[in-house]
Amino acid sequence: MIRSSFPGRHPATRPRRLRSAGWIRAITAESRLIPADLIQAMILREDDAEAGPVPAMPGIRRHSVDEAVEAARRARDLGLPALALFPHTSQEQRDAGASAAFDPDNLMARAARAIKAAVPGIGLIGDVALDPYTDHGHDGVLAGGEILNDETVPLLCRQALVLAEAGFDVLAPSDMMDGRVGAIRGALDAEGFTDRMILSYAVKYASRFYGPYRDAIGSRGVLQGDKRTYQMDPANAEEGLREVALDLAEGADMVMVKPGLPYLDMVTRVKQAFGVPTVAFQVSGEYAMLAQAAEAGAFDFQAAGLEALACFRRAGADAVISYYADRAAQWLAEERR
Ligand code: PBG
Repeated sequence: MIRSSFPGRHPATRPRRLRSAGWIRAITAESRLIPADLIQAMILREDDAEAGPVPAMPGIRRHSVDEAVEAARRARDLGLPALALFPHTSQEQRDAGASAAFDPDNLMARAARAIKAAVPGIGLIGDVALDPYTDHGHDGVLAGGEILNDETVPLLCRQALVLAEAGFDVLAPSDMMDGRVGAIRGALDAEGFTDRMILSYAVKYASRFYGPYRDAIGSRGVLQGDKRTYQMDPANAEEGLREVALDLAEGADMVMVKPGLPYLDMVTRVKQAFGVPTVAFQVSGEYAMLAQAAEAGAFDFQAAGLEALACFRRAGADAVISYYADRAAQWLAEERR
């Protein structure tokens, strides 16, 4: 792009002309937000478990399988292409080996089967990580105070196969173990799941913004220590690009940047450097900030919420995983009327 003689000078050049009315703003908009850009994040619960609300996330509840099916129908009708599911797991169902992750009838599997039966056209993204199932809240095998990488990867493969078997279209490893994308690809292919996609949480930071999520899935008070030996340091950008390169080389179809808004520079850099489908995760803490600020009267949730989502698109995200994707899609439909 040649910008040397641009933008010219005032008074001949007046940028405000292109902002003077809605119709010209619509023509000159450089990015757009439509429901097809939004993926619904959803926390599942057992039917007999307490529904919620999720602490720190006003407006968010955990969904039973039946409620998840209903929400999937609604999501489809709103034009949302996919759901990203996460399971709440009670203390009693957790153990050191994360055995519930490999149960072919676990909550994730039952929800996927029910949703696929009722709403076959909607995409299902399944989180691959052990943290909802371990009694220590980490994403891998814990031994001697360390998270063991190469001992964890085969377990992630088993978990990915359980999810694929249940009907998940996209396996999304969020654990940040080295080498897991290639291993999961190999495991899927060996079982004939060559059509299932991998959305790698490639650029995933060790972030405080996951706080409400850990509450939502039942990991609060369970997690020992922090995740800084496997999730990335928020100070680093180049390292994130290396992570993307590795995951793509191992067979990732799409990559994710997470969290979202404070890390939009990484969305832009990843999209520019690799040009692959790039998904951003507007995480639980971001939702909490927006929803609680709106409750305190700082702004209108709808206006601020749509603005935040539009910023992901401007930054280069192909899609955004959001806890209010359904409401955003509804608002977008109302705006068009
Ligand atoms: C865990 C996982 C996390 C999230 C998605 N998968 C949290 C973590 O890494 O501790 C965060 C989602 C959110 O905050 O909304 N593998």
